Amino acid sequence: MDLIEEELQEEQNKPRITAKGAMNPDKNFLDKFRPMFQRINEELSGSVGSHVFLIREVGRHALLGEGKRLRPLLFVLSGQLCGYGREDIYRLSTIFEYIHVASLIHDDVLDNAELRRKKPSVRNVWGNLTAVLGGDYLYSKAAGLAIESGKLEWIKLLNDTTRQMVEGQILELENTHNWELTRDSYMEIIISKTAVLMSAACASGAIVAQADRKAFDHLSQFGRNLGIAFQLLDDVLDYTSREEDFGKPVGKDLREGKITLPLIYTLQDLGAGERERLKELFKNKKAREEDHRALITKVRNNGVIERIKSEARQLLEANGRHLEPFPESAAKEHMLELNRYMVERQH
Ligand code: IPE
Ligand code: IPE
Ligand code: MG
Ligand code: MG
Ligand code: MG
Repeated sequence: MDLIEEELQEEQNKPRITAKGAMNPDKNFLDKFRPMFQRINEELSGSVGSHVFLIREVGRHALLGEGKRLRPLLFVLSGQLCGYGREDIYRLSTIFEYIHVASLIHDDVLDNAELRRKKPSVRNVWGNLTAVLGGDYLYSKAAGLAIESGKLEWIKLLNDTTRQMVEGQILELENTHNWELTRDSYMEIIISKTAVLMSAACASGAIVAQADRKAFDHLSQFGRNLGIAFQLLDDVLDYTSREEDFGKPVGKDLREGKITLPLIYTLQDLGAGERERLKELFKNKKAREEDHRALITKVRNNGVIERIKSEARQLLEANGRHLEPFPESAAKEHMLELNRYMVERQH
């Protein structure tokens, strides 16, 4: 076993206990996919190769450890749902982890984030310049694998996906400290930066299995809704979670001027005077530590968190219909369970 595999095994075998000592329900839920995660991890560990030492180091650091592997998992399950039975599905699934991790490395540059997957972020260890190049390298690893498949339709989908992800991140960047950001614009951002990748992971199952257009469209929609709910929850957890559980900074969105739905709803519920006071304070970077804490507490306690969770729940409840046309199978059951998990997850 090489070093990476050992580290992966170690991570897999760690007892999944939260800081409070109680078993974390969402981690237990993902445990049922452990054999699949192990196959995905084997493929990942076997392929982080470059003759350049620094690239190997950055790749290993970013890919190993606590990542949930949700996107490769969604691809494998979608392929199985469409009747794809070949083992190379696991090798192909790494495409989605490469794209995802590349986007995380770049995201931490954009967000000035020090922590990722319970470890220092790539930019924190090696700096922004290496982070940009390390992310680029992983994007190109993903492209290489897709090209090997020879499926032009797939290459096109993946290319559209990464292009849209960049558009989403740029849109978000443009709207930093835009305290007038609307719910519609916020939705456009999260669909582009997050939901399109989950959508592509699911739809790609139909492509590799050579399923029909209808299957492709349903899986594409299913993944998109998962992705929307997933980012809604991510933005909720940024306000409600703890760093030990979340594995990345909390309260960071407000600090970095990222206007997300919990804040948009909170601002809508305030009187015009209070809204202007907060805008003036935060936008002009005059807010002190206690102002940050006070606003975070307000967001946590004014009912918007439950409102967003309930919106996400409704979206996911309706999402099951996209799997109705598919025959009953273990893969279908698992995808429906993942659909429910998206809003109950704690990290
Ligand atoms: C984090 O995704 C980035 C978002 C789209 C919110 P995950 O929460 O799936 O990250 P890992 O892979 O488990 O670290
Ligand atoms: C997700 O948004 C960004 C990507 C799609 C890479 P965030 O910036 O909220 O993601 P986290 O919270 O840092 O993982
Ligand atoms: Mg971020
Ligand atoms: Mg970000
Ligand atoms: Mg976030």
